[in-house]
Amino acid sequence: MTDLEGRTVLVTGASGGIGGATVRRLTAAGADVIASGRSVEALEQLSAETGARPLPFDLTSEESVRSALEGLDLWGVVNCGGFGGEIATPVDTDIAVFDKVISINARGALLVTKYASASMVRLGRGGAIVNVSSQASLVALPGHISYGSSKAALDNITRVSALELGRYGIRVNSVNPTVVMTEMSAFYWGRPEIEGPFLEQMPLGRWATEDEIAAPIVFLLSDDASMITGVSLPIDGGYTCR
Ligand SMILES: NC(=O)c1ccc[n+]([C@@H]2O[C@H](COP(=O)([O-])OP(=O)(O)OC[C@H]3O[C@@H](n4cnc5c(N)ncnc54)[C@H](OP(=O)(O)O)[C@@H]3O)[C@@H](O)[C@H]2O)c1
Repeated sequence: MTDLEGRTVLVTGASGGIGGATVRRLTAAGADVIASGRSVEALEQLSAETGARPLPFDLTSEESVRSALEGLDLWGVVNCGGFGGEIATPVDTDIAVFDKVISINARGALLVTKYASASMVRLGRGGAIVNVSSQASLVALPGHISYGSSKAALDNITRVSALELGRYGIRVNSVNPTVVMTEMSAFYWGRPEIEGPFLEQMPLGRWATEDEIAAPIVFLLSDDASMITGVSLPIDGGYTCR
């Protein structure tokens, strides 16, 4: 089991499926976890189960992120908070949805990186950041104009942050999962006419579980990944290798 004993790691999106699974694995590995999201009730439930410390804040508000992160002594971050937006083409997209998707998935993750990395640099112990991106940033997927763009921006935030923060011993990576059947994805990917043809194109031919995303996130945070920075790691059953 990976040893993250004594390391304080902030997980955004902890009230959701992938974030919750990540918190469970991190606490099992001995990390001191700060669990974030907006739903206080969900965070308190997770806290009762895992011992993670709840810290609700809104990723769309710089003031909310800044005041939540001020004074925290962080070693690591998992930027997992996210929003799926809409399924739409460039012709029929609702630009207000684009703004919201970018605001949560890219701008929100950058705000967290900005205030978290300040504390990581100040502490001088190095650290690691993992951004939860998507297969939708690596290949063009129908209907994913806003979401795919937000995750492509997130992958660039990963690379530039890796470049800038490496000198402080801080590694920054993305994971790029395929679909996990959470509430966010089921409304679209659960449709037989979408699911069938997609899975036929995927070498492993099935959707991912939350734990199959959480495990590589914890690996990238750990010292086992000490020479890995700036990558976007597909966790996609081979879909993007084609
Ligand atoms: N599920 C998939 O198929 C899939 C595939 C690839 C990538 N991803 C990515 O994986 C991440 C987690 O997804 P999931 O499937 O676990 O989704 P989920 O269960 O819907 O969780 C989304 C999380 O994001 C938080 N969040 C949303 N808007 C926020 C805001 N304005 N401020 C703060 N927190 C906010 C939610 O908090 P509250 O509910 O408390 O508001 C929740 O904790 C996302 O970044 C998603 O894009 C998911």
